[in-house]
Amino acid sequence: MKVVLKNQKLETIPCDALIVNLFEGTKTLTGATAAIDNVLNGLLKKVIKEEEFKGKLSSTLVIRAGGKSKTKKVIVIGLGEKGKLNLDAMRKAYASGLRAAHREKAKTICTVLHGTGSGKVKAKDAAQAIAEISNLALYKFNKYKSKDKTSKNSEVKTVIIAETNKTNKKDAQEGITLGNATSKAQILARDLVTEPPLAATPTRLANVARKIAKENKLKIKVLNKSQCQKLKMGAFLAVAQGSDEPPQFIEIKYTPKKRAKKHVAIVGKGITFDSGGLSLKPASAMEDMKMDMSGAAAVLGTMSVIKDIKPDVAVTMIVATCENMPSGKAYRPGDVVRAMNGKTIEVFNTDAEGRVTLADSLSYAAKQKPDEIIDLATLTGACVVALGDAAAGVMTNNQKLADKIIKAGNEAGERMWQLPLYDEYRDQIKSDIADMINTGSKGKAGAQNGAVLLEHFVSDIPWVHIDIAGPAWISKENPFGPKGPTGIGVRTLINYLKNYA
Ligand code: BES
Ligand code: MN
Ligand code: ZN
Repeated sequence: MKVVLKNQKLETIPCDALIVNLFEGTKTLTGATAAIDNVLNGLLKKVIKEEEFKGKLSSTLVIRAGGKSKTKKVIVIGLGEKGKLNLDAMRKAYASGLRAAHREKAKTICTVLHGTGSGKVKAKDAAQAIAEISNLALYKFNKYKSKDKTSKNSEVKTVIIAETNKTNKKDAQEGITLGNATSKAQILARDLVTEPPLAATPTRLANVARKIAKENKLKIKVLNKSQCQKLKMGAFLAVAQGSDEPPQFIEIKYTPKKRAKKHVAIVGKGITFDSGGLSLKPASAMEDMKMDMSGAAAVLGTMSVIKDIKPDVAVTMIVATCENMPSGKAYRPGDVVRAMNGKTIEVFNTDAEGRVTLADSLSYAAKQKPDEIIDLATLTGACVVALGDAAAGVMTNNQKLADKIIKAGNEAGERMWQLPLYDEYRDQIKSDIADMINTGSKGKAGAQNGAVLLEHFVSDIPWVHIDIAGPAWISKENPFGPKGPTGIGVRTLINYLKNYA
C-alpha cells in the first residue's frame, strides 16, 4: 500500500473511490463534500437525502459518480456528532470508509484529512491515522494458504491524501511518514505472532533480530545457552531447559546521531510457545499460546523502523526467548532458581514462566543503568479477566513515567489502564525458603502478583510493566485490523520514544 500526499484539489484527482465525510445532522454540505457535490451537479446531496444517510459515526454511503467526475465512486463516511469527534472516532470512521472502498474493489482511493476542517483533529494526527489504518485495517496472513498464498491483503493499492493548505501539507507529510513506519513495524509484529510456533522458534526470532539490526545499522548481541550460563541467568535457563529448542538472549542497541537525551530499555517477553510446562495447561488454554511472544514481537517491530523514527533517545531492546515445555529435563514445581542479579525464585507453578524469564531480562537491563525500563509481556490470564482485550494493564514503580506511557498509548489508539501495586501484593509472593515465589494467592490480583515479582529485578530504576495478554489478540475486528494478533505495543512505544521520552 502506498499512501501519498497531493497538493491538488480533490475533485481533480483521478481515482476509483473518493472518501469524503458528513457530520451527523448536517443540513448543508461543506468543504470537500460540497466541492465534489458541485462537480456532480448536486447528486451527492440528492442521494444523501433519498437514502436518509444521517452521518452516524462509521456509517458509509457509496455513490456511483458516473462520467461527470474524475472519481468512479464517492464514499461518504459518517463522522458522528461534531462535538464528539476526536482522533479515535475519526479512526473508526476512516476505517469503515476504507473497508467500503475495498468492498467496491477500488485500487486507488483519494481522501481528505477527515475531521481537520471544522473538527478538532490535527492535520498531522489525521494523516498518521490514515496511513496507519490504510496499511493495517485490511491486513491478512495468507502464507500458509495453498490456494491464495499470493492474493494481496487488499485491493487498495494507493491512498492519495488531497491537501492544498500549506501548513497542513507539511504536517500531513510528517504524519504520513510516521504512520507508514509505525504500520510497517506493527505488521512485522503481527506476522511474527501469527507464524506457527514451529516456525517462529527462538532461533528464528534471533535471525529476525539480526536482519533488523543489519537493516537499521544497529549493534546486536545474541547470547546462546552457555553464554547465558556464564552470566548466571539461572531463571531464564530454567524455563528454557524443558525444550529441545535452544534459548536465545537478544540485545539490540540504537544510539541517536546527536547526544542521547536519555537511555530507555525496552524488554519483551519471548515465549515462542507456552504449554505451561509440567504445570501443563488444559488443551483449550494452549490453543493460541504461540502468541506468548507478542511482547518480543512488539519490541522487535519497533526496532525494525528505528532508523525511520530516529528518536532522540538511546534505546536498548532486550528479549530472552525460549519455549516453555514439559519433559524429563523440564524445571519443576518446587525448584528454586537464581536470576542474574542474585535473587532466588521458588517455582510453585511452571506456567508462571514469563516472570521467571523476565527476571533475567530485567536484571540484564537494570545492570546497564538505563534511565527507564519498559517491559511488554503477555504475562497473566488475570489481566485478561480484568480488562478483556479492550486495554493493556499498566503497573509501575514510577507514576510520572506511567502517566507518560499511558498518554502515549491512549493517543496512539492503544488503550492502557493502570492497576495499583499495593504492599499486600508484595506480601503474597513471600516464600519460606527463597526470596520470592513465582505465584501469589490464587484468584487474587494475579496481574499485580506478576508485576511485584518483576519489580525485584529492576533495582530502583523507573519502570513500567505493560501486561498485553488481553489486547495482543482480539476476537473481533477493530479499526486497525482483523481478529487475531494485533501487534499491540508498537504504536505506544514509537509514540513514546518519539514524542515523550
Ligand atoms: N502466557 C500466560 C498468560 C496468558 C494467558 C497470556 C492468556 C495470554 C492469554 C502466562 O504464562 C500464564 O500462563 N500465566 C498464568 C500464571 C499463573 C499460573 C500464576 C495464568 O495467568 O494463568
Ligand atoms: Mn504460562
Ligand atoms: Zn506465558
